[in-house]
Amino acid sequence: IPVEPFELIVFGATGDLARKKILPALWRRFRAGQMPEGARVIGAARTELDTDGWRRMVAEAIGPAEGLDAFLERLAYVTLDATGEAGWPELRAACGAPEVRAVYFSVAPALFAPLAERVRAHGLADGETRVVVEKPFGHDLASARALNAALAAQFSEDQIYRIDHYLGKETVQNLMAVRFGNMLFEPLWNAQYVDHIQITVAEQVGVAGRAEYYDHAGAMRDMVQNHLMQLLCLTAMEPPARFEPGAVRDEKLKVIRALEPPRWLVRGQYGAGQGQAAYVDDVGAPASGTETFVALRAEVGNWRWVGTPFYLRTGKRLSARSSEIAVVFKDTPHSIFGIDAGAHRNILAIQLQPNEGMKLWMTIKEPGPGGMRLLDVPLDMTFAETLGPEAELIADAYERLIMDVIRGNQTLFMRGDEVEAAWAWTDAAIAGFEAAGERPEVYPAGSDGPRGAERMMARDQRLWREIAG
Ligand code: BG6
Repeated sequence: IPVEPFELIVFGATGDLARKKILPALWRRFRAGQMPEGARVIGAARTELDTDGWRRMVAEAIGPAEGLDAFLERLAYVTLDATGEAGWPELRAACGAPEVRAVYFSVAPALFAPLAERVRAHGLADGETRVVVEKPFGHDLASARALNAALAAQFSEDQIYRIDHYLGKETVQNLMAVRFGNMLFEPLWNAQYVDHIQITVAEQVGVAGRAEYYDHAGAMRDMVQNHLMQLLCLTAMEPPARFEPGAVRDEKLKVIRALEPPRWLVRGQYGAGQGQAAYVDDVGAPASGTETFVALRAEVGNWRWVGTPFYLRTGKRLSARSSEIAVVFKDTPHSIFGIDAGAHRNILAIQLQPNEGMKLWMTIKEPGPGGMRLLDVPLDMTFAETLGPEAELIADAYERLIMDVIRGNQTLFMRGDEVEAAWAWTDAAIAGFEAAGERPEVYPAGSDGPRGAERMMARDQRLWREIAG
């Protein structure tokens, strides 16, 4: 879909996110022909640098690539003080009068308010300007409310784009296509037919370079409040009437509001293992009680889902990088093959990363003369194989989300009330474990997490799916 010539101002232009995600994503969109004549990116940060210096920084982040110079020509840089007045007139002067203007706050949340005020005061925003903000969107409900209020003082809700990059992932959107584009699943997508749902986001990385932020946040705030919550919402929500921002976000909000406080919650922290240091050494805080792993049992208290648990699990330094949503259907009501045939279940596993795709596990007869023996096999829709070269065209989350900002489509961004509801639930869960005062269970780096997570499932007579990259 074509986009209008836009001007994107990236605050925090020399930071990690800008260099690693935002600018590379823009470059790929440029290469795909989606930065029309006149579209420009203006970087702004405290770092003393000129346009050439920033271009070099961006070029280094992207690496050698044909045609890069033409992209770099679209970039300009201004040194500026987010909380003072220095640099703002220069920024104003560097800006044109584009069809679409977006400002991207790729900075710590403490700077959202001062930036929003100055962007307005210096004539860089009007009723059409879009403002993009990154997570963490607050540390708890109170701080999220304060951020919402600070943004609302300068912009209306339909100008604000709160990023959760998981919503930009290809398979996450495919979840909606599968649920609402097929007749096959929706009739079965409820407590009557679904035994339980497992949402796993397993990472191999530790917390290198982000010790200060992470030790303050922990997995509950860093991953569960946002990414896992969004995956849960898309899995559990009612069909929206239309695929449009208001309708989709209304349905997600209803799910969050229907969530019961988690009945079981297990926290873990990685210890040393497989040549990797322990978390406490990574962050240099020997007494840290921050969790790097969470497993919990969530329940959506509504007619569709009552009795079907949602098990969420996420952790760092696990055995593999692997994220999936698995819908585990119930047993058939009666097995005509007798108990020797064993238990067989349909599972729809939506693999977010790596190897994006979907597998629908079905039960068939084991081939051969051995009699009626049953076998579980997957209908495999690994995108790389099913779509062939088309799979190459899958845009990364940031490419898609930035272009959605330019097009003015808020469907894949979180609304203020949604974020607040997610924090209200998260705060209550955190208050629960803080009151209990237990330390997280240490698990070896490179393992599948703490034993407690397995015990949690065993109590419900269920098993986690294997974490396999
Ligand atoms: C970020 C978290 O939001 O998501 C990180 O702050 C985490 O801790 C990252 O590593 C995971 O994103 P992805 O896209 O690599 O799964």
